[in-house]
Amino acid sequence: MVNDLSVTLCGLHLRNPVIPASGTFGFGVELSDCFDLNRLGGISLKGTTREARYGNPTPRIAEAPAGMLNAVGLENPGIDVLVREKAPALRKCYGGCIIANISGFSLEEYAECCAKASDCPEIDLIEVNVSCPNVHAGGMTFGTDPHSAAAVTRAVKAVCRKPVFIKLSPNVTDIVAIARACEDAGADGLTLVNTFLGMRIDIRRRQPVLANKTGGFSGPAIFPIALRMVWQVAHACSIPVMGCGGVATARDVVEMMMAGATAVEVGAENLRNPLACPEILDALPELMDELNINRLQDIIGTV
Ligand SMILES: Cc1cc2nc3c(=O)[nH]c(=O)nc-3n(C[C@H](O)[C@H](O)[C@H](O)COP(=O)(O)O)c2cc1C
Repeated sequence: MVNDLSVTLCGLHLRNPVIPASGTFGFGVELSDCFDLNRLGGISLKGTTREARYGNPTPRIAEAPAGMLNAVGLENPGIDVLVREKAPALRKCYGGCIIANISGFSLEEYAECCAKASDCPEIDLIEVNVSCPNVHAGGMTFGTDPHSAAAVTRAVKAVCRKPVFIKLSPNVTDIVAIARACEDAGADGLTLVNTFLGMRIDIRRRQPVLANKTGGFSGPAIFPIALRMVWQVAHACSIPVMGCGGVATARDVVEMMMAGATAVEVGAENLRNPLACPEILDALPELMDELNINRLQDIIGTV
């Protein structure tokens, strides 16, 4: 059987739906010696803010069964370096969909950074992170209230000529309410989910493991919850969804798509195994044959 893995996301043709998630794949070029990046449907770049940031103090990674916690705190070189150096460098070795992931501490900062990303010829799509749990203002505070999430959406849509996806936090009671607010405010799509707020304690030091005390929990353990949220939102909204959270295998990709995701992001698994995405892509055609799927696009939202 000839397998067609391609998907269309807001009019953009992706050779397949597999995309490394923001913060787990640097700015792409760092991984270009590991495998041919052109195998990837898209790449979501490290979260970027107006100014360069060093991130949080260390330790900022903690282990957990079937997952990990991070409190990196948006370490990045700033938007001007992204548009002048990082995106052009990636474009030299990568022909697929380049996704800028933007974070901010005010509506003005979100708008300024997204406008610069939108003007950058190498960037195809903008993912707006209103869900970072590891910074003490901004980030998740915008993504846990429908009015604030809508305000960010309106502010960035007013200045962007490229598709805008709002990346949602799972740390809410009703993710559908936030998703609908973003859709009503003009979002072109939604990415869900970011990490779950978590914590670990070093019982000998009697201190939190992370210097930040709390961090974002991600990895295979969160997959069923992320899948449920993707399914709920995909049924409630009519804009496309990128599914993210605990994806580690070809089967997880198929589940996310059946739940309603048009594309699927792989996060923590890249840190455990830098070849996770190509290995998922190797396994997908065989799984499609087993399930009698010719065109991957046909299974989106079938459950
Ligand atoms: C070390 C690390 C750094 C991250 N940095 C960002 C970031 O800068 N922007 C963002 O939107 N999400 C960031 N995330 C969240 C991931 O993109 C993803 O949404 C989350 O980890 C859930 O997916 P996973 O379970 O596959 O890791 C980060 C995650 C990790 C593990």
